[in-house]
Amino acid sequence: MRFRIFEELEMIKETQRISLPEFDLGGVVPWGRRLAEYQAFFALDDMDGGGPVLDAGGGPVLDAGGGPSSFAAEVASAGVRVVAVDPIYRFPGEAIAARFEQTAVAMREGMARAADRFNWGHYGSEEAVHRLRREALALFLADFEAGKAVGRYVPAVLPNLPFADGVFRLALSSHLLFLYGDTLDFDFHVAAMKELLRVAGEVRVFPLFNLDGRPSSHLPGVMRAMGQDGVRCALREVPFEFQKGARQMLVAWRG
Ligand SMILES: C[S@@+](CC[C@H](N)C(=O)[O-])C[C@H]1O[C@@H](n2cnc3c(N)ncnc32)[C@H](O)[C@@H]1O
Repeated sequence: MRFRIFEELEMIKETQRISLPEFDLGGVVPWGRRLAEYQAFFALDDMDGGGPVLDAGGGPVLDAGGGPSSFAAEVASAGVRVVAVDPIYRFPGEAIAARFEQTAVAMREGMARAADRFNWGHYGSEEAVHRLRREALALFLADFEAGKAVGRYVPAVLPNLPFADGVFRLALSSHLLFLYGDTLDFDFHVAAMKELLRVAGEVRVFPLFNLDGRPSSHLPGVMRAMGQDGVRCALREVPFEFQKGARQMLVAWRG
């Protein structure tokens, strides 16, 4: 059984190869962030002065490509209705944890090699980043099996989501779209954005830079394609910067 899980992970690795010299991750990257980080990436505390976006009384929120982030676990424990989707949710927590360990070394080495591309003001050090990733993984794993049983973690692969139109108030995509723009092509980005906007009233994406630390070349074309499809898009400053210069999120909604 254990063998089969790893065979399947290898298959995903082959179909979703994400590999750059500094980030030689060899496939799926089970590398997750904490709620406080999502709050900064997506300016969730105070959007346009309108107060917190994540309130327990609001409609459900989607975390697209949630991986081993603890965002869903942490907001669910605060009473917010949330669903996270990711292909890795087909696998048991122990396989996801094992994959984390396999990629952790490559991530740390990659971050050390590319240290000058990052603004360390937020995290302080590579050790602090690593500690947060482990905290996120632990919180995710503690919630995963029970959360999956109640539909909080859904195995799914963009650009096809198993949800009805408009069921989510907000969809978030952290560290998937645009970041892996060398692997995930332009058409994938347009299809993924359309699918997120089918299921959610508003979509927010962060970061808008490639893994190589440059602004994504897909972004202008994706915004144009969205506009032609009747979607309104805006770039908003967020209170976070790690990749140098990556201080904006994309907000998209049907006008
Ligand atoms: C770098 S992780 C980011 C996890 C989380 N969003 C965060 O920021 O902490 C990227 C995640 O995207 C997932 N992923 C890759 N391709 C995907 C797809 N086509 N649809 C949904 N998720 C995908 C991977 O499995 C991985 O867990």
